[in-house]
Amino acid sequence: MKFFIDTADVDAIRELHDLGMVDGVTTNPSLILKSGRNILEVTKEICSFVQGPVSAEVVALKADDMIAEGRKLAEIAPNIAVKVPLTWDGLKTCKVLSGEGFMVNVTLCFSANQALIAAKAGATFISPFIGRLDDINLDGLDLIGDIRTIYDNYGFETQILAASIRNANHVKDCALIGADVVTAPPAVIKALASHVLTDKGLEQFTADWAKTGQKIL
Ligand code: E4P
Repeated sequence: MKFFIDTADVDAIRELHDLGMVDGVTTNPSLILKSGRNILEVTKEICSFVQGPVSAEVVALKADDMIAEGRKLAEIAPNIAVKVPLTWDGLKTCKVLSGEGFMVNVTLCFSANQALIAAKAGATFISPFIGRLDDINLDGLDLIGDIRTIYDNYGFETQILAASIRNANHVKDCALIGADVVTAPPAVIKALASHVLTDKGLEQFTADWAKTGQKIL
């Protein structure tokens, strides 16, 4: 399973990139706001060291304007995936831009039918939002499972990019269900390495080692 990092924080991406944890990056207008950076500049900086797909989102609502914005974002680097919302205009944009050879990430997906129609429009990635479904007491992981089944039934090549990942269990469950990619905030990726028994065990080993009076170096 590929790891994309869901942030526009360049330092956080670099830290994980140096550990080989970054297969791609996703951003959205809220994350650009949080970064305090200009979208074109920060996206270019991310693309300067991330080799995998870097999603940059259009903000227009009409297809013609979305297409123009998407083409401009795609000029930033060859590894840009143009991110479009799952609206009818977004699907038109997906069809046009994927036809021009650009990667397209269709975002704000909350149903299996939306994922089906995005695949038919040529999406490279579909982004179902798990956490936001969980927030309203629906099951985001069920949605990932349904999309996996539908895509496998018909051989769609659109990759399932599980988004709105809020915790380490989401990552594990997505891996079990067969999501192609998860995009998670840096803190969630770091949390994957944590376990209370690891901490406890290390504390014990450190204490016992001190009692031996030995040194390795
Ligand atoms: C996905 O591409 C989105 O950027 C992101 O995962 C949304 O997550 P949130 O629901 O935590 O804002």
